[in-house]
Amino acid sequence: MPKGLGGLELRRGGRCLDVACGLGEQSLWAAQQGFEVVALDASEVAITALNSAAMNLGIRDQIDTRVHDLDDGLPAELAGTCALVVCQRFRDVALYEQLVYMLQPEGVLVITVLSQVGVAGDPGAFHAPPGELIDAFRELDLDIVRSLEADGEATLVARRR
Ligand SMILES: C[S@@+](CC[C@H](N)C(=O)[O-])C[C@H]1O[C@@H](n2cnc3c(N)ncnc32)[C@H](O)[C@@H]1O
Repeated sequence: MPKGLGGLELRRGGRCLDVACGLGEQSLWAAQQGFEVVALDASEVAITALNSAAMNLGIRDQIDTRVHDLDDGLPAELAGTCALVVCQRFRDVALYEQLVYMLQPEGVLVITVLSQVGVAGDPGAFHAPPGELIDAFRELDLDIVRSLEADGEATLVARRR
């Protein structure tokens, strides 16, 4: 389950977009919850591993895996079609607005990035400064459901209006 979703009432079914899916932990979870998943990652190794895991679990036909470079943005044809957008442990500020526009009305976004909050010493360039997620997303067409920042991670859960 994506971080931050625990206990949240979530309508099951529809499309889930897993952005930078890696080995696909969230994709596999979403498919098992009844979502039709589109899983994107630039790594062919990660996508191959996700295909194998999905095959072993008997849910391969519920996950559309795509080798996709997010530097090219999100797939435009998915705009407005997703009941759930998950982006866990991948941070690209340039994609924040696009993540929202992938959602259908009342669709839920769950994003987790590395954060400077709760990191001792120099956290390095990949960690978001305090408040980055809430500052970026509160201006968009969303209701913020949850915002957590601690222990080197920031998570935001929001629902599209
Ligand atoms: C830390 S992993 C997170 C994986 C997964 N979301 C999770 O939480 O387990 C970051 C992922 O981002 C992917 N990634 C990095 N840069 C990317 C890019 N430009 N386009 C697509 N995927 C990218 C990597 O291949 C890697 O699988």
